[in-house]
Amino acid sequence: MPDLSVNCAGIRAPNPFWLASAPPANSGLQVQRAFDAGWGGAVWKTLGTPIQNVSGRFGGHTVRGVQGAGFNNIELITDRPIDVNLREIAETKRLFPKHALVVSLMVETREEWRDIIKRSIDAGADGLELNFGCPHGMCERGMGSAVGQEPRINQEITSWAVEYSTVPVLVKLTPNVSDIVPHGLAAKRGGAHGVSLINTIKSIIAVDIDRFVPEPRVGHASTNGGYCGAAVKPIALHMVAALAREKQFGLPISGIGGVSNWRDAVEFILLGSSSVQVCTEVMLRGYRVVEDMIDGLEEYMRTHGFDSIDRMVGKAVPAFSEWGDLDLNYETVAKIDADKCIGCQLCVAACHDGAHQCIHPTAASRVPTVDESECVGCNLCQIVCPVPECISMVEVNNGHAPATWNEHVTQGKTLRPKKGAH
Ligand SMILES: Cc1cc2nc3c(=O)[nH]c(=O)nc-3n(C[C@H](O)[C@H](O)[C@H](O)COP(=O)(O)O)c2cc1C
Ligand code: SF4
Ligand code: SF4
Repeated sequence: MPDLSVNCAGIRAPNPFWLASAPPANSGLQVQRAFDAGWGGAVWKTLGTPIQNVSGRFGGHTVRGVQGAGFNNIELITDRPIDVNLREIAETKRLFPKHALVVSLMVETREEWRDIIKRSIDAGADGLELNFGCPHGMCERGMGSAVGQEPRINQEITSWAVEYSTVPVLVKLTPNVSDIVPHGLAAKRGGAHGVSLINTIKSIIAVDIDRFVPEPRVGHASTNGGYCGAAVKPIALHMVAALAREKQFGLPISGIGGVSNWRDAVEFILLGSSSVQVCTEVMLRGYRVVEDMIDGLEEYMRTHGFDSIDRMVGKAVPAFSEWGDLDLNYETVAKIDADKCIGCQLCVAACHDGAHQCIHPTAASRVPTVDESECVGCNLCQIVCPVPECISMVEVNNGHAPATWNEHVTQGKTLRPKKGAH
């Protein structure tokens, strides 16, 4: 039986699945229900000076009928009194001593940080998460992403928190920057024990085309919000991996952003996360989604020979390289399994209009034909094919030794002849 327990930056939990700081971790009863459902940890909805929220707070991005493929919010931090939150944190920790209870914080002055940190730890926090990420409302008050986008301020506030804290401090980074690495390094210089990322991405989710107002609509206006949910996973994975492979970094990472199932979680772990946090998927489908996440992760670990999460963390990081170090002589072509093909011709349309015009309709059959001499191995047909494993990308032995662009430029290594470039 694989061991799912984790130790992320000194914060221990029975499994790597944690609720992210957001509405599902807003109150004691919610977090307790989540722990009962199987979640290994929770990052409490950010505490700070309680705020007033607007009506009309969330927006959904529907893609070809899939509701909530992306999700947007203009909600702020907790709107509940700090005393009430702290009482419920203490109660939750008493009932679930082995679960990870991290308290997310966002205040302004050094004195406020000292005060809220002491009170959170007194309430039983196993760790703190500094919210330097909120891209709306709080940043206009000099907090959230206004801190996260400025490495100097990030470092300074992190160092205050580390000075006042007796429990591990995670810095939650904003993705609203061009390169995440300097921001992770700033947190490290400030003494952080780990980082969590990503918070939400600055965005406008949609426009009400009858009222001429962006969404979510608050009366006659709206504002930019924070984008999250399944659609942001690729951005989050890249940022997690960029930090995980940075030699000067080396801190534990709690991965967040678009985790919807066990497979997403495995991907985050393989790219360097020692825990994963989830918000949108729980908002859309409830706490019970963790059951499949746990089952799927356990089964994956069993079939891949991992006895602990530690052994999985970062396994795919060495394979994340620069474009200039990829083998330009590696070659694949598309092959169609005629027994699986349903003859829908989607691959024909995609290859003809979006790739290299080398899948052709076949007169005698509904199964198209790939002209392998022209196929550049771009994967597009495989991506559009609705039948699993019907199109495979098969390696071609072209007789050319591996050669990267960098080796070609510096050592004159020979590149295979180009296909599809006429
Ligand atoms: C409605 C909503 C409220 C959120 N509130 C907070 C918050 O108070 N503090 C915080 O650090 N992140 C907050 N987040 C960001 C999430 O914790 C998380 O970083 C982000 O949603 C990406 O994860 P996901 O794709 O699983 O939703 C909020 C997100 C949503 C959707
Ligand atoms: S891999 Fe690309 S080029 Fe080759 S058949 Fe498919 S779509 Fe066409
Ligand atoms: S997309 Fe797939 S199923 Fe459809 S014709 Fe092409 S190979 Fe066959």
